[in-house]
Amino acid sequence: AFRVESARTGAVFDVPADQTIVQALEAAGHAVAIACEQGVCGTCLTRVLAGTPDHRDAYLNAAERARGDQMLICVSRALSPTLILDL
Ligand code: FES
Repeated sequence: AFRVESARTGAVFDVPADQTIVQALEAAGHAVAIACEQGVCGTCLTRVLAGTPDHRDAYLNAAERARGDQMLICVSRALSPTLILDL
């Protein structure tokens, strides 16, 4: 499990092992734009302001992954305890 913080509202969301970031946000009433939910379309691309994403998508290239400043929140997770996202 890890934690996601919304940079815009300050809201904090716990993401348990059996939920994606998108699912945890939606469960807490925070709607996000999604389409494929499989990490391929890029619709849910979100800027990462702090923390280290664990990229599990098939959308970003190697250089984009290494930069770690954006992620696909329908599939990717966190390597750090907290991610601060541009939500
Ligand atoms: Fe398609 Fe996340 S919804 S990549």
